[in-house]
Amino acid sequence: MASYVVTGAARGIGLEYVAQLSADANNTVFALVRNKATATRLESLPGNLPGNNITILEADVTDPKALENAAKAVSGVTGGKLDYLINNAALVKIGGPGLTQFTNPDDLEKELLDYFRTNTVGTVHCINAFLPLLQMGSVKKVITITTGGADTEFVLKAKHMGSAGYSISKAAVNMVVAKYAAQFKSEGFVFLALSPGFVDTSTLKAAPETVKGISKTLTQITPAFKGAMTPQQSVKLQLEVIYRWTVEDTGAFVSHHGNKAWL
Ligand SMILES: NC(=O)c1ccc[n+]([C@@H]2O[C@H](COP(=O)([O-])OP(=O)(O)OC[C@H]3O[C@@H](n4cnc5c(N)ncnc54)[C@H](OP(=O)(O)O)[C@@H]3O)[C@@H](O)[C@H]2O)c1
Repeated sequence: MASYVVTGAARGIGLEYVAQLSADANNTVFALVRNKATATRLESLPGNLPGNNITILEADVTDPKALENAAKAVSGVTGGKLDYLINNAALVKIGGPGLTQFTNPDDLEKELLDYFRTNTVGTVHCINAFLPLLQMGSVKKVITITTGGADTEFVLKAKHMGSAGYSISKAAVNMVVAKYAAQFKSEGFVFLALSPGFVDTSTLKAAPETVKGISKTLTQITPAFKGAMTPQQSVKLQLEVIYRWTVEDTGAFVSHHGNKAWL
């Protein structure tokens, strides 16, 4: 039996993590959402029936107090332990501006800081809130969902100048993962920055023309690219990587294939 906390669980990849993990009745799954009232898709998962294995908790990842309360609630159910933390929540907007495409410096600064606050600092708050429980667990795996768009080589090859705030915040969170890995390897922790690939979530539905443009570029640089995966396909592959990853390779930044193939 294993326990999991998944952040950003109301929709997209986070929701699919909860669906796949809760399908095993031996798992205890904590779905962290920003707003319970709008997290209606979680309610229809079979594991959310009373007495089943999903507990929905509310916490914004930018709110350390709310995360502390969520960790207390998890602790109350598990007896002070947690096996896996999946940091999935993020501010995501596809096709955001490049660094020269803002009309004024204030807007540029706001965009960079908004992404940094949620995607980088929010992840640190989450890890710190659940760390004491993870230390008491027997698995000690902390997975942070990142993006291949934060890989320097990929950005240069794809000439990917857009979505600057997002990519920068994710490059920074990759370093967050490395810092924790350096500190906690001796305790047997596995920290992993994991890119899910290109996945058809609400994010992609937001801007069909932009998605088309990005898909075209991706096909040019990776001819084998066949378009976006479903969340089901991506999470299945991500879980395979998560289960096989070991402490020897803690701190890595890899894709759903377990390597640097981002698509
Ligand atoms: N889809 C892709 O192709 C792709 C590619 C590379 C990386 N990723 C990464 O995969 C992860 C999931 O992406 P997705 O496509 O599933 O995105 P999504 O559909 O936009 O879902 C993002 C989730 O994060 C939550 N969230 C955002 N800000 C939050 C905050 N401050 N506190 C708590 N929760 C917050 C959202 O909550 P609400 O529901 O309340 O808004 C939502 O549930 C992200 O880390 C993203 O960067 C996705």
